[in-house]
Amino acid sequence: MGNNLCVIVLAAGEGTRMKSSYPKVLHLLHSKPMLSYVIEKAEKLKPEKMIIVVNKKNYAEIEKMYRKKKNLAFVVQERQLGTADAVKATKNIAMKYNNCIILYGDVPLVSIETLKNVKKLHFDKNADMTIATTYLDNPYPYGRVKRDASGKVIKIIEEADATEEEKAIKEINVGIYCCRTKLLFKLLPQLVPSARKGEYYLTDLVEKFSSSGCKIESYVIENTDEIIGINSRIDLAAAERILSKFILEKIMSSGVTVVDPDNSYIDETVKIAPDTTIHPGTIIKGKTTIGRNCHIGPYTYIENCVIGDNTKIEFSYICGARIGNNVAIGPFTRIRPITCIEDNVRIGSFAEVKNTKVSPYSKIPHHSYVGDSFIGKNVNIGAGTITCNFDGKRKHKTVIEDDVFVGSNVNFIAPVKIGRGAVIAAGSTITEDVPPYSLAIARERQITKIDYYKHKK
Ligand code: UD1
Ligand code: CA
Repeated sequence: MGNNLCVIVLAAGEGTRMKSSYPKVLHLLHSKPMLSYVIEKAEKLKPEKMIIVVNKKNYAEIEKMYRKKKNLAFVVQERQLGTADAVKATKNIAMKYNNCIILYGDVPLVSIETLKNVKKLHFDKNADMTIATTYLDNPYPYGRVKRDASGKVIKIIEEADATEEEKAIKEINVGIYCCRTKLLFKLLPQLVPSARKGEYYLTDLVEKFSSSGCKIESYVIENTDEIIGINSRIDLAAAERILSKFILEKIMSSGVTVVDPDNSYIDETVKIAPDTTIHPGTIIKGKTTIGRNCHIGPYTYIENCVIGDNTKIEFSYICGARIGNNVAIGPFTRIRPITCIEDNVRIGSFAEVKNTKVSPYSKIPHHSYVGDSFIGKNVNIGAGTITCNFDGKRKHKTVIEDDVFVGSNVNFIAPVKIGRGAVIAAGSTITEDVPPYSLAIARERQITKIDYYKHKK
């Protein structure tokens, strides 16, 4: 056996402080469950095995979410008797590996570098146990790390059990432990429930290892932003802020201007090319890619979109669309899924476009609904134009070929096709196909009654 490794992730706590019917570790941080952050980073350590400890209530949901991952096992902790008890539940699987790293599912922002450094220190120093710590000005409510006169870690004291003197210790337990597996399962059964809470604390292991003459190393994390443990919704919001800062700093370092980082929310999964500017109040989510020299926002929501270069989108809501180069969208535009907006298109204020292809150089500048449609090149859609795509039961398609001019306030009763170069007069309700280069007028003639009111006044 070499230095093979098993990662144990604890996710069986009740999460009572979240006051949620939903498993705590599946609460979202920037659209992704917090447990995913822990699992994905732990995978980078290339462990031979990963074990997630769940409880009876959250088992089904967590298992469903991660079952496709390789080398992953789920273990149910029958009763929530504390973090040490949760680790005990993994014994049968974990004992097959020489060393294990124990992580908490509610400490999601720890960096991969930190995890790698803890692992490296543990193996380099041939330690029996290695823990991660950091120093906080306000160490509440974390476990405090006690060292002896020579600086060796000898104990972790939980907030609930700490004396005033111990509470003043600024070095805290982050919740990352690397241990020799045999020693771990030899000493775990010797732990007793804590005096105040009656729980089996994993942190009590440190004193056990220390008093048994084992070698304990500690790795001090410099960036305190990494260590937040999420117990409440307030912690969740604090973690969102920290994560946002991490992500935005990475985006800015890659050459993107973020005008107001405190009011911009961008998922980790979003890719933005240099020299694009993100204006305040903008949310960009999911699998979105944005090209160069774009201006996105202010006050814009974008999800799962591919956007080209030199495009401007302001005060708009865009979801599941492909948008080309030199496009201008907004203000107050909604683009719905399966829409493809090609290069040099303008979609203006108060327009809604759905399941439609808009070809280059076309314009939908004002107050329109265009759905289930194909719009050719160089088409002008007049203000207030509606594609009437729904007959109450089924959706129908509107096809408008190249170079068509649509006047204002036109209704297209789909299915309908407008041939190339045709002109549709303002105010028309079009029920029949229009051949190329024709003029279609479909409105009542105006009646003007001369002097109609003259005699009444
Ligand atoms: C724990 C540490 C504390 C550390 C802090 C870091 C202990 C006793 N204390 O405190 O020293 O500073 O994390 O954030 O470990 N869990 C189970 N089964 C249980 C209880 C908990 O699986 O019976 C899981 C939880 O789902 C959670 C993790 O263990 O992911 C930590 O438990 P939690 O109750 O949040 O511990 P803290 O009080 O935050
Ligand atoms: Ca916690």
